[in-house]
Amino acid sequence: MSTRNANDDAWSAVNRTSQAVAALRWLEMLLHGERALVRDRCVPLLLPEGRFPRADMAGVHIPENLHGDIVRIAAWLRDARGEPGAARLRAHVDRLALRTARIDAVLGEYLRDIRQLVIVGAGLDTRAFNLAAAREATIFEVDFPHVLAFKAAQLGGLRLACRARVEVACDATAADLSQRLVEHGFERGAPTVWLVEGVFVYLDAAQVAAVNASLAALSAVGSRLVATFIGARSPETFSRGMVTRCDDPAALLAPWGWHVHVTHYADIAREFGRDFPPGDDFYLALSAPRAASCTG
Ligand SMILES: C[S@@+](CC[C@H](N)C(=O)[O-])C[C@H]1O[C@@H](n2cnc3c(N)ncnc32)[C@H](O)[C@@H]1O
Repeated sequence: MSTRNANDDAWSAVNRTSQAVAALRWLEMLLHGERALVRDRCVPLLLPEGRFPRADMAGVHIPENLHGDIVRIAAWLRDARGEPGAARLRAHVDRLALRTARIDAVLGEYLRDIRQLVIVGAGLDTRAFNLAAAREATIFEVDFPHVLAFKAAQLGGLRLACRARVEVACDATAADLSQRLVEHGFERGAPTVWLVEGVFVYLDAAQVAAVNASLAALSAVGSRLVATFIGARSPETFSRGMVTRCDDPAALLAPWGWHVHVTHYADIAREFGRDFPPGDDFYLALSAPRAASCTG
């Protein structure tokens, strides 16, 4: 298992992003109320005292006079459309909400037949507590030990929406990911839904390949992959550490035995009646059920 060590800086850079994602979910609910695309009863627990504890959220500087207060940040976003920082953060909120809503719907469909969901780089994903469609599923959450420990401390007492939630505390790029999953009860012979949401962009090419090799090695016939990617010309969204940009997820994933359909977020935005900034290339890749001949 990886432990915190000299890589602390790199680790905290990636982990900050999971906190920002939780804050963006909360902002979507505050900004859109009943019409929000996201409903997450857990976010107030993930941001204790209703505060975002950092000066920057998703690469946007939060004015000091808001003191990180989520309700005040929402008011700032509502009232300051002409202000560049607020406009950028609103775009992040929209993007995150679109991604979450679409993936929730896709999981709802896939989990009718598949009982095993592995969330790679789960961060502060709360589907294990919120996603009704997961009631028959076991959800494995893979992330660094201290991310999962924080989450367990905050959400530990909540009732699960899924059959079981299993924490797999490790570096997902390590060669022993497969072994660690199997040790935690992953069933090799059963089909799996793999969710890699907001993660590949933080990994370099060798790490992306390592994750894909582990997933391919464990994917029984009928498995599905759901993954998100950020294109080369999109501006930095989380301010640092965005390494792997990709405008052709189908080509990236094909060598690993996945045949994917790729949707640009602008198309998802149209479907949900939201604006989407021109020049932002974000993609959702959904695989066909894995075929017997695909060995990765
Ligand atoms: C942007 S967050 C996304 C979290 C979640 N998937 C979501 O969409 O809400 C990225 C997450 O990936 C995790 N992560 C990044 N590199 C990782 C690695 N090598 N092994 C395990 N987790 C990793 C980070 O700790 C962080 O929680």
